[in-house]
Amino acid sequence: PFEAAIFDLDGVIVDTAKFHYKAWKRLAGELGFAFSERENEQLKGVSRMESLDLLLQAGGITEVTPERREALTSRKNEWYKEYLATLTPADVLPGVTNFLELLRSCGIQTAIASASKNAPLILEKVNIRPLFDVVVDGNSIVKAKPDPEVFLQAARLLGVAPAACFVFEDAAAGVEGAITAGMRVVGIGDRGLLACAHLTITSFEQLEPVFLLGHIGVTGH
Ligand code: G6P
Ligand code: MG
Repeated sequence: PFEAAIFDLDGVIVDTAKFHYKAWKRLAGELGFAFSERENEQLKGVSRMESLDLLLQAGGITEVTPERREALTSRKNEWYKEYLATLTPADVLPGVTNFLELLRSCGIQTAIASASKNAPLILEKVNIRPLFDVVVDGNSIVKAKPDPEVFLQAARLLGVAPAACFVFEDAAAGVEGAITAGMRVVGIGDRGLLACAHLTITSFEQLEPVFLLGHIGVTGH
């Protein structure tokens, strides 16, 4: 019954979630407040501008003009892109490449569903684009997670029904969006933070691919 696996990018395929946090924390520092890893959890999966709003809210900063918001997000993005410049294929998270190859050898289609406008750059830097049939990212969607748009668009492009898709997500907003899309979700990370996921793992290395494949109803390969 399961025909496609849809992956979030930041924090699932590549460990870029730490760079996002580093850049937001740096911006908070410039604005004069501390920003914890815990507070950063709610920014994961959320669009750049909405992330800024959550950050400013955490710092108690109100009444920011649209021009200032633009300036602050582009500042954050400049730093983030500086950090991205260091990415190499070795930054693909453990077990990811093997798992993608296994899925494809079973005839399961694969897609990226990310809110990031930097997704094409990241995929190219770590050289993993060829392992995905479809990429949907922040350049082609209107509504960010937890809206299901990005997942539904990926399923549509793959030509697969939402109920036949499995989603891999590290963000609470992403887990929520995938569930709203009518898909099954595997949470990557802390079970407590991703309580709504159907299953939670801490790493693809730990994931027993055979178990999962049994779970999602694929037999033999
Ligand atoms: C992903 C990340 C978020 C990020 C968003 C936009 O969903 O999890 O932390 O804010 O993409 O990314 P961008 O690279 O376009 O700023
Ligand atoms: Mg993520």
